[in-house]
Amino acid sequence: MTSIERAKPADRAAIETLLVAADLPLIGLELAIATAVVARDGDNVVGCAAVEPYGSAGLLRSVAVTKTLRGTGLGRRLVAEAEAFAAESGIETLFLLTESAEDWFPRLGYEASTRNAVPATLAASPEFTDACPNSAAVFRKTIATGWRSRR
Ligand SMILES: CC(C)(COP(=O)(O)OP(=O)(O)OC[C@H]1O[C@@H](n2cnc3c(N)ncnc32)[C@H](O)[C@@H]1OP(=O)(O)O)[C@@H](O)C(=O)NCCC(=O)NCCS
Repeated sequence: MTSIERAKPADRAAIETLLVAADLPLIGLELAIATAVVARDGDNVVGCAAVEPYGSAGLLRSVAVTKTLRGTGLGRRLVAEAEAFAAESGIETLFLLTESAEDWFPRLGYEASTRNAVPATLAASPEFTDACPNSAAVFRKTIATGWRSRR
């Protein structure tokens, strides 16, 4: 049985291995590791997702599932858990950049957006400025409303 849980500091190397295998950037990962979630199958980390916090906005990044377990629902579960932790920490809107999953994120409720709609602090993040080309698609999703997250 694969469980989804908060990442531990010791998971960092396994997360990096997953990201490299999925051709996703490592740059800025240290900004997201505290809120990362992993899929754990026994002792093995088989999936991950992370959120970089920027006030009430967050950058969903590093969503990856090991190749042999793709298509089993892990990606969806990882994103749902990352969204839940982000909402708990006061994030209301998640943004993401992708060059490889433009047809997948809309299935999880993400809407196409633009770089101009991204808050300035988030647009200055390493993933936006250094890792992803301007051609990467931008998506956004409201995960909590202000009144609810402040209760
Ligand atoms: C994108 C990714 C995380 C999805 O994980 P997953 O565990 O396979 O996803 P799920 O099992 O929840 O969903 C599977 C469904 O999504 C579809 N899907 C998976 N990846 C997709 C993609 N990149 N584009 C479009 N559809 C995709 C599958 O075909 C499957 O469709 P079905 O339900 O109609 O059969 C995984 O494919 C992956 O690690 N890709 C490489 C890294 C990446 O591109 N990450 C996203 C950018 S951060």
